[in-house]
Amino acid sequence: MSSDIHVERLRARLLGKQGGALVDREAQAARAVAPKVATGPEHYDFAQFPELREYANTRWYYDKQGYEWNMFREHAGVVSAEVDVAGRRMINFSSYNYLDLSGDPRVQAAAKQAIDDYGTSTGSGRIIMGEIPLFAEFERELADALGVEDAVLGVSGYGTNVATIGYLARKQDLVLYDELVHNSMLVGAKLSGARRFAFAHNDCDALERLLIEHRSNFERVLILTEGVFSMDGDIPDMPRLIEIKKRHHALLMVDEAHSMGVIGARGFGVVDHFGLNGADIDIHYASMSKAFATIGGYVAGRRELITMLKYYAPGLGLYIASPMPANAAAGLAALRIMRDEPQRARRVVENAGYFRAQARLAGLNVGRSEGSAVIPVMLPDAELALWMAARMFENNIFTFPMIFPVVPRNAARLRFFVNTAHTREQIDRTVRLLVELKAVAPISKGLF
Ligand SMILES: Cc1ncc(COP(=O)(O)O)c(C=O)c1O
Repeated sequence: MSSDIHVERLRARLLGKQGGALVDREAQAARAVAPKVATGPEHYDFAQFPELREYANTRWYYDKQGYEWNMFREHAGVVSAEVDVAGRRMINFSSYNYLDLSGDPRVQAAAKQAIDDYGTSTGSGRIIMGEIPLFAEFERELADALGVEDAVLGVSGYGTNVATIGYLARKQDLVLYDELVHNSMLVGAKLSGARRFAFAHNDCDALERLLIEHRSNFERVLILTEGVFSMDGDIPDMPRLIEIKKRHHALLMVDEAHSMGVIGARGFGVVDHFGLNGADIDIHYASMSKAFATIGGYVAGRRELITMLKYYAPGLGLYIASPMPANAAAGLAALRIMRDEPQRARRVVENAGYFRAQARLAGLNVGRSEGSAVIPVMLPDAELALWMAARMFENNIFTFPMIFPVVPRNAARLRFFVNTAHTREQIDRTVRLLVELKAVAPISKGLF
């Protein structure tokens, strides 16, 4: 019922008049609004939503092949180079715990102390009553490590990307992003309402062409890339990106989820790896769920940027509760260990280098992975990726198949996250098994 008819009926009733004429007009109004969409159960019954078909097909395929369902699989105990799954001890390549700090007694003690000191929640947004010294301590020490003025810690890694990009980019702005950046960056860009163009992966010339063509039509231009790409394990040419962004007066944001704590002499990410000035990158971002062994996300950069985000960015500073005290304490303890024990980062990179070299020697395709701890083993199709992952699992090696939609349909792979605690023997065994399995793999039937 349109609101003015509703008001008229109400008025008629209050005035003691008949509503008959109004009922006729209501029917006329309903006829005038012919339905544009034929409503069916697929619009109100979740069981009939088409999205569920993808899931049903996947389960059907696993059952048909006799594979154990490998998603949401529970593990016991702390994840490290090994993990307990289904009562079995497995070599683990599926945790982001690069520096093996998730089970570190110092990190755990800091998190427990924070719970003793502040409880399990601050019970408020930071701006209101949720601020505790731990947040500022983490932010101060992080900013120092990156060589920038300030930082802000957010509740979620994913959400901090969405909130930051969604806040900084506006309708009159342009976002240029590497085609392989993480979904959280894409969603932030989409929500911002800014014009968006992808450039070919790590192709600085393509980026420059876009800037030459479009820069003058927009106010702010935000360039999005990653320090280490999460699916491919390669590192972009950061000095060239910085030179380009400076020349075109654009802003550069780098997602260091997989590079912070890992690459560079001290492990402090791209700044360290390339010997950059922290101020050359406008927006430093990382998720806290990788090397920091906790959960959350940070942004670091100039003081003015951080002030804006803390006071005004919905989902980072505003309209959101503070991070959990224990998360900030764990992140701070992890940061201090990174600073004091740079050998951890060096060992991750060495371990990964060994894995990559052995895999290449054995004829495996590790794609463009270089210098990082993310190693894909590229496979011709998704069926082979699922088959290989299932056989690896049977052989007590945990690695996860990456298939569409997280990678393109023709880019299926097994992805290996190497960590500081992996041994040469574990890596050798893994590479050997990959080679043996590939040699006897069945031809895919095109069922999936
Ligand atoms: C590159 C990248 N950015 C952002 C995120 C989001 O971080 P989180 O999962 O901690 O929310 C991830 C998560 O996997 C990631 O790989």
